[in-house]
Amino acid sequence: MSEYAASVVAETIESKPDCKLGLPTGSTPIGMYKNLIQFDLDWSNVKTFNLDEYENISHAHPESYHMYMRKNLFSHVNLKEKNIHFPNNEYDKTIKAEGNLDLTILGIGHNGHIAFNEPGSALTSKTRKVKLAEETIQANSRFFKTVDEVPKHAFTMGLQTIRESKRIILIASGSDKWDILDECFNGNVTTDRPASMLQVHPKIEVFYAS
Ligand code: PGA
Repeated sequence: MSEYAASVVAETIESKPDCKLGLPTGSTPIGMYKNLIQFDLDWSNVKTFNLDEYENISHAHPESYHMYMRKNLFSHVNLKEKNIHFPNNEYDKTIKAEGNLDLTILGIGHNGHIAFNEPGSALTSKTRKVKLAEETIQANSRFFKTVDEVPKHAFTMGLQTIRESKRIILIASGSDKWDILDECFNGNVTTDRPASMLQVHPKIEVFYAS
């Protein structure tokens, strides 16, 4: 799964050196980044757009997604600082002006969230500040000393921008993710399970590793 996802990112950069990538954080993509940094790629014209970031967290905080990306990818490749993007007020406008994302890699939460689009998020939702679901706060508390330290809000790319990505690869690992994957991709399309909205995307691949 990780090797495949990394090879698709690498092929995308090789075939379109100025591609726009939507990139995830979390435990699942670590293997993909480990594989990806082994490729000899020119990232100098690539633009990256992270899916999300916690609210009110220092970029230097070890659990910030800025830090995660620096550690797992940015410090290993020749990506230009100005080409690195995290959600801000202009996110949707910027991504649209770039011709939309060429490839987005997604993880999935236990409640079917993608990025931080929690259940109930609209199909047309834009980049915005969201309140994290209790389930997400509990799941992410494994990265913090106590659950109280987990930020309660975050900024996330909206479902609209994710759906407009030309290609999507969703990766999920662990037997605890199987039921939600099954519900999202074999069940009904519903805002109760945000990832289910990807069923109708013309170019999506879903990978699961137990
Ligand atoms: P995980 O997170 O890879 O750390 O399980 C996935 C997600 O919540 O999107």
